[in-house]
Formats: sequence, C-alpha cells, structure tokens
Amino acid sequence: MEDLLNSFCEEIKELLKSATQQEEIFVQGRRLLAGLAGKPVFLRESLTKLATDDEFLLSRRNPTDPNEVTLFKDTDGLFSVRLYIWDPDITYPVHSHGSWGIVSTLAGAVEERKYERQDDKSRPGYARLRETGRSVLKPGETTTVLPLDLGIHKMDSIIKEHSSVGVHLYGKAVRQEYMEKFDLHKDSVYRVTFPGMNDRVYVLKALGAIQEDWSNDVLEKACADRRPLIRFEALRALALTQQETAIGLIEKETTQQHGMEEDFAALLRSLK
Ligand SMILES: [Fe+2]
Repeated sequence: MEDLLNSFCEEIKELLKSATQQEEIFVQGRRLLAGLAGKPVFLRESLTKLATDDEFLLSRRNPTDPNEVTLFKDTDGLFSVRLYIWDPDITYPVHSHGSWGIVSTLAGAVEERKYERQDDKSRPGYARLRETGRSVLKPGETTTVLPLDLGIHKMDSIIKEHSSVGVHLYGKAVRQEYMEKFDLHKDSVYRVTFPGMNDRVYVLKALGAIQEDWSNDVLEKACADRRPLIRFEALRALALTQQETAIGLIEKETTQQHGMEEDFAALLRSLK
C-alpha cells in the first residue's frame, strides 16, 4: 500500500508543479486516482492496516468526520489523500469544500448529487439550491468538485447491505477554517468549524459578552489574525462594545478577496 500510495503522491506532486490549468489537474488527476482506486491490492492493504495496526489508525484519524482517514498530507500543503468508509445506506449532508477535489470509490457504490446556488447570498444563513446532476460512482470511477460554491454536492452511500469505501484527493484549501453545509428543506446554510477552531470561536464570543477594557484589547489583537474566520468572530464580538471601530475594520474586510467578504458585508448590514 505504502509503495502504491507513495508513487501516486509523487505523480500528483509532479502534476501540480507542472499544470497551469485546473482542467489539466482534473484530467490527469482523475486518470491517476482511477488507477489507484482500480487496484484491489490498494484496498486490501489499506483496510488490513487500518483494521490491525492501532498506531497507524490513530496517526491517520481525522476528527473532522468520523468516517475519514487521512492517508497522506503533503508537507507543502498542496494536497491530501483521504479514505472515507461509508456505513451502508448513509446520507451525508449537502456541503461545499475549501479546495478542489477528485473523488473515487474503492468498494461498493456512492451516489453524488451536484447543486448550484440560486440566491445572491445577501441573507445570512439563507441558501436556495438547485440540483444540477447526479451520478453513481462505482470502483475506479471518478468525479470532481471545485472549491466553495462551485462545488456544492452531496454523497450518499447507496448500498443497503454493506459499507462502501471512497478515496478522495483534495488540493490546497482556499478556505481552511470551516466548511459549509446546507439544509435543502429549510433553505439554509450553516458553518461547521473545523476542530481546533471551535474553541477559539467560543472564546471570542465569550470575550464579546465580558465588555471590559482587557477583553476589548484581546479582541482587537484577534482582529489582526491571519485567518478570516477569527477576524470575523473577533469583529462581531468587538462590535458589541466598540461599534464604530469594528464597523471601520469590517468595511475594509468587505473589499478583500478571502472567501468571507460576503459574510463581512452581511455583518456590516446587521450593524447599520
Ligand atoms: Fe464532498
């Protein structure tokens, strides 16, 4: 497994270094991932290792999703390779990704539905989606997703009698701190913060409620954090006591291209 995975990752790294277009990454990346997914020895050895090697399992477990195992993470952050072990007949919520992705199946079958956003994103928490296509991925077949709103999709493990196993290749994330999930029945979108970020977000909210000089000092520092989500939560909390200062900083954020400019714009509207 290690040899197969290593040579796959080497080829992906070469591809990402040389490719200039996303389309080229998808075409070549799909060919390479289909090759990996089509090798029964890769499935056999991956599952054997995960089932019998505690150390390996613990080192690869990812707390974001309980059914996710990170097989490889590029040290330069260019890409990662993950296994998804789907229980029988499981529906995963509609969601978008922070990065592009190529998805294949090693065992069983997974149905993918793709969606596009119909609303203009001006109402916080509201999202109206339209299904644009669906397909079933069997072993060795692939599909692709683009980052953020261009890659909204849903994966369902459709075999009722047994589990399915997927292998996913993800590129460099343009949004690292959270993912968005959608509720089709409520026409809503909600943010799921990645582990490690949750505690920080809760602390920033708590600081907003304290309203002392020292808590404002801490929030002002957090407003200069490199991560837009932290700046967003810090500014939202700061606006409770220092509204004028916060509004000035939020206005600047609405002109940036960091993926959260629309969230900052909505926050600004709620303050004015
Ligand atoms: Fe996905």
